[in-house]
Amino acid sequence: FAIYAPYIKAINALKKERNAVILAHNYMTPQIYHGIADVVGDSLQLAIEATRVEADVIVQCGVHFMAETSKILNPSKTVLIPDMDAGCSLAESITAEGIAEMRAKYPGAPVVTYVNTTAEVKAASDICCTSSNAAQIVAAQESDTVIMTPDKYLAQNVAKDVPHKRIVWWDGACIVHEQFTAQDLRDFRASEPTTRIIAHPECPPDVVAEADFSGSTSGIIDYVNSERPEKALLVTECSMGSNIANAMPDVDFVGPCNMCPFMKMITLEKVLWTLHSMQGAVEVDPEVADRARVAVQRMIDVSR
Ligand code: 13P
Ligand code: SF4
Repeated sequence: FAIYAPYIKAINALKKERNAVILAHNYMTPQIYHGIADVVGDSLQLAIEATRVEADVIVQCGVHFMAETSKILNPSKTVLIPDMDAGCSLAESITAEGIAEMRAKYPGAPVVTYVNTTAEVKAASDICCTSSNAAQIVAAQESDTVIMTPDKYLAQNVAKDVPHKRIVWWDGACIVHEQFTAQDLRDFRASEPTTRIIAHPECPPDVVAEADFSGSTSGIIDYVNSERPEKALLVTECSMGSNIANAMPDVDFVGPCNMCPFMKMITLEKVLWTLHSMQGAVEVDPEVADRARVAVQRMIDVSR
């Protein structure tokens, strides 16, 4: 960690000078998560925190849709992302035309859209959801049929929790979580029967079925923190275990895990550069932002 110290020191000094706060997702590297973040959390927590920021500048240590969400929720702030190319396979899988296609196929059904999408897609949706409130949001819809976009696996996992709804979905997936297989987990459990297996709901449903618990990234942290299993297998992005391992020395975090290539594009060097140059400001067309804000705000209101 010492090799990062000069960067961490420089960033924290520049942060004060710029009157900036750093919002960091749970998948950031430990040097970002512990060294420079003012707030860490899952997608829902970061969105809620973005509404509360009073500083002039938000540096979003996460992927592009997260920075867009912050800009939508707090448009007078300068929202910087250290790498504009930090995308997401889910956000890339659907456009506003895709939402229109689903509406034409299932007339009258509300569109519940995962926050892992562009502002245009949110703007075309009725309400957003994250992995921590998806079942709650779907259950709150009046219609018997609910369209969920773009994550087919999240939709299929929610369908098990909300059996009285007919859920139809878009064909998107997370390239990190779709790689885990149920057979991997069965083999793992056979060789390590005491390990607690915890899976993110972006994993396929047969993978989630093999797990002892499934939840958002912060849900996973809370579960491990309260249960304190001897060994934990986090079926998600690799930085999760690294970020919480020091605070829970009694838990042995075991692999395998997968890296998100987009999240890993955010580095200390790039954070320093974006704060220094003030380049990397995320802009959202105000008309699109107004409509997207309605969908995100509805989600926040239902989750309260
Ligand atoms: P959450 O932090 O909301 O669980 O989302 C995980 C994720 O993959 C974000 O890209
Ligand atoms: Fe997107 Fe998956 Fe990476 Fe999250 S982990 S940013 S869902 S590709």
